Amino acid sequence: MMKNKPIALVLLVLLIFIHNTSGSSQDDQGQLQVGFYAKTCPDAEAIIHEVVRRAVVADPRNAAILLRLHFHDCFVEGCDGSILINNDLDGELKAAGNAGVTGFDIIEDAKARLESACPAVVSCADIVALAARDAVSLSNGPFYQVPTGRRDGRISKMSLAADLPDVDDSIEVQKSKFKQKGLSHKDLVLLSGGAHTIGVTACFFMQNRLYNFASRGGSDPAIHPLFLPELKAKCPLNGDVNVRIALDRTSQFIFDDQILYNIRSGFAVIASDARLNDDHDTRQVLNSYIGGSKGSNKTGPSFKEDFTAAMVNMGKIDVKTGSKGEIRRVCSAVN
Ligand code: HEM
Repeated sequence: MMKNKPIALVLLVLLIFIHNTSGSSQDDQGQLQVGFYAKTCPDAEAIIHEVVRRAVVADPRNAAILLRLHFHDCFVEGCDGSILINNDLDGELKAAGNAGVTGFDIIEDAKARLESACPAVVSCADIVALAARDAVSLSNGPFYQVPTGRRDGRISKMSLAADLPDVDDSIEVQKSKFKQKGLSHKDLVLLSGGAHTIGVTACFFMQNRLYNFASRGGSDPAIHPLFLPELKAKCPLNGDVNVRIALDRTSQFIFDDQILYNIRSGFAVIASDARLNDDHDTRQVLNSYIGGSKGSNKTGPSFKEDFTAAMVNMGKIDVKTGSKGEIRRVCSAVN
């Protein structure tokens, strides 16, 4: 018995090897993987990065725009570039929940460059995911590896976007909408609260919070008394609802954890962020990051690291891989 042990071990290793290699071609087709374009379009990520870098240098607001675009893509029909389709009168882009979503020209610019470098290889869905990553890192946020290999969807319908999270959703509804997408309440805090460290909101989304909270006519009691007049001055009753104000009042263009402190202390700008402090579970998540990078709790989890893990989770929502979907020639229309 003892004498045969090394042979048995070698056989076992060989078997595992054969099993893994024979399965890998299938897996490669069916799963996202980091470096998916390494052989087919080696410069893909560099090309996208350069387009995003130029866009953010030209206008720093583009970083937030691209980050939001990825979220709105993933939450309707999965991360399949369906939000980019613009040839349909009742496409998902026309849904109320997608109001203000832009950044399409930047994605289309990257797509055009990729088509000349390696035609029909890189999906629009992957461009959106990689552009969001680059937007975060160019805003002083963390850089992370994005598993790629998404294919583009062919369906874009306004009705499918009815379930997008809404700024006035209760925390229960927010949690349930994230759960439906396979995301936890921790992902909710990291993604929703976390992403709002950059970017702006139109005063349109502040109306209920400031002047008709819970349809009762007043303001959200969660707003700090010192912050309420500031918000009201920026978004006056019957004022221009298209005026935009920073979601993180102290550092609109910098990806940092200040937003978490704001939310904890009544300085959240939009109602959905404020709700993260109302609930036991989500408040615990907020608390776990507060202090972590600012002194007292040095051993706590890292907001930036966990944010990137949550982004990777979001980027996996209902992806189309392998033989599903297509690689669009242009991002604004199906082939
Ligand atoms: C409960 C979930 C969420 C709600 C209700 C929500 C709501 C909003 C609203 C109302 C705005 C202002 C939009 C405008 O005025 O055009 C906004 C902006 C933004 N959202 Fe969210 N959001 C949520 C989750 C997320 C997630 C998961 C991400 C990304 C991971 C994200 C990224 C952004 C960014 C970056 C902006 C700024 C966009 C800009 O400056 O143009 N949001 N969000």
